[in-house]
Amino acid sequence: MTAINFSQRRQWAADQSISFLMQQGLENRDVISLAAGFVDPKTLPVSEVSDVVSRLLADEATGQSALQYAATAGSGELRSLLLEHLAGVEGHSVDSLGVTADDVVVTSGSQQFLQHLTDVLFDPGDICLVAAPTYFVYLGTLNGAGVETIAVKTDEHGICPDALDAELARLEQAGQLHLVKLIYLVTWFENPSGVTLASDRRSQIVDIAKRWSKSQRLLVLEDAAYRELRYSGEEIPSIWSHDTSREHVILAQTFSKSFSPGIRVAYAVMPRDLVPAIHDVKGNFDFGSPNFSQQIIAEALRTGSYRRHVDLLRNSYRVKRDAMLAAAEKYFSDIDGVSWLRPEGGLYVWMSLPEQIDTGYSAPLFQRATKTDGVMYVPGEIAYPTGSPLQKKNQMRLSFGVATPETLDEGMRRLATAVRSVL
Ligand SMILES: Cc1ncc(COP(=O)(O)O)c(C=O)c1O
Repeated sequence: MTAINFSQRRQWAADQSISFLMQQGLENRDVISLAAGFVDPKTLPVSEVSDVVSRLLADEATGQSALQYAATAGSGELRSLLLEHLAGVEGHSVDSLGVTADDVVVTSGSQQFLQHLTDVLFDPGDICLVAAPTYFVYLGTLNGAGVETIAVKTDEHGICPDALDAELARLEQAGQLHLVKLIYLVTWFENPSGVTLASDRRSQIVDIAKRWSKSQRLLVLEDAAYRELRYSGEEIPSIWSHDTSREHVILAQTFSKSFSPGIRVAYAVMPRDLVPAIHDVKGNFDFGSPNFSQQIIAEALRTGSYRRHVDLLRNSYRVKRDAMLAAAEKYFSDIDGVSWLRPEGGLYVWMSLPEQIDTGYSAPLFQRATKTDGVMYVPGEIAYPTGSPLQKKNQMRLSFGVATPETLDEGMRRLATAVRSVL
C-alpha cells in the first residue's frame, strides 16, 4: 500500500492536547475528573429547552422556518436579539453600541469562530500574541495553521500591558511587526487560570493595538466565553467597549457555558471590514450554522428563559467554586510552596505546586494521581506555547464544573495525597 501524502496542515494539527485529554477521561472513567472543562450536567436546561422546542414546533410556519437553512451569517432575527442581549450585558442601549446586526456572525460554538478568524488572518509563519497561560485549544488551532504563538507575561490581573508593549517593540526591532496580526485574550475568568483582566488594563490594550497598527491593523480578539458566569465581585466593561472606533476589537461570546454546549451556538461582533472575510470562509465551511440550534437560543432569549437559567447557574456554580476553594484550604494549606488563585467566576481554579514538581502527563504526579489516587487534572504546561520561556511545569487547572461539592472535596483530598507522595 502506498502512503497517503498528507498536507502540511495535517502535520501541524498532530498531537493535540485536547484529544489526548478527552481520551484520558474516557480511559479513566472511575477517577474523579477535575480535568474536564464540561459544564455541570445537573444544571443543563432540559425542561427549558423542551418547552422552547415545543413552542417552536407547535406552529407549522415557525416549525418549518426553524427546520430550514438560515443565512451564512446566522438568522437575522437571532442576530438582532443578540444585539439586545449584548446591550444588556454591556449596560447600554442597542442604539449606543455603534454596531448593527450586520456586524454579528453566528457560529457553531466560539471554537468555530476562532478557526474562521485564524483562516482569514494568518498565513503560516505569522504571529499571534497570547497571555501566559491561555486557552490551550486555541493554541492547537493556531499551531494547526502554522502560526507562531508568543506568550506575554501575565499576573493575577491578566496580561501585563507593559510586557505586551515591550514584546511588540522587540518584534518591531526584529523586523517582524508585520507578522503580528492578533492579540488573543480571554478577559473574564480565563481558561485555565480563572484570572480576569483588570479594568484599568482594558483600555490600555486598545491603546496598544492602536499604537502598534503601523503598516497594518493589529486586532484584539476578546474571548468572553465565561463572562456571564460571575459569582462574586463587580461587573467590569469589556475591552470592546473601550474601542469606540470599532476598528480593533472582536468580541466573541458563546452560549456553551451559560446555557448548553450541546446546542453549540456562539456569536462574534467584529469590525465591519472583517465581516465579509468571515462570511466567505464560513460559506466555504458550512454556509451557516444549524438553524434549529439558533432558533432555540432565539426563543430562550425572547422568553427570558435564558436569563433565568444564567441566574440559576450562578448560584449553583458559586457553591461549587466555594467548595473547591474550601477543599484547597483544607488539604493543601499545610503543603509548603502550594498556592492557588480565587476566581470570581468561570469554571477553574489554578494551582501552583513547588517548582520541582512536574505536573505533565508523563510525570510521576499525573501517573500517580490518575492510576493510584483516582483523580485527574489538566497539566498547566499545555496552556503555554511549547518552549515559551514563560512556560511553567508545576501548575494545574482544576475544574469545579462537573463534580458535586462532596465529590470536589474528595477529589481535592485525593489530589493532595498524590502531591504529598511525590514531594
Ligand atoms: C476560553 C474558551 N473559548 C472558547 C471556547 C469554545 O467553546 P464553544 O466552542 O463550545 O463555544 C471554550 C471552551 O471551553 C473556552 O474555554
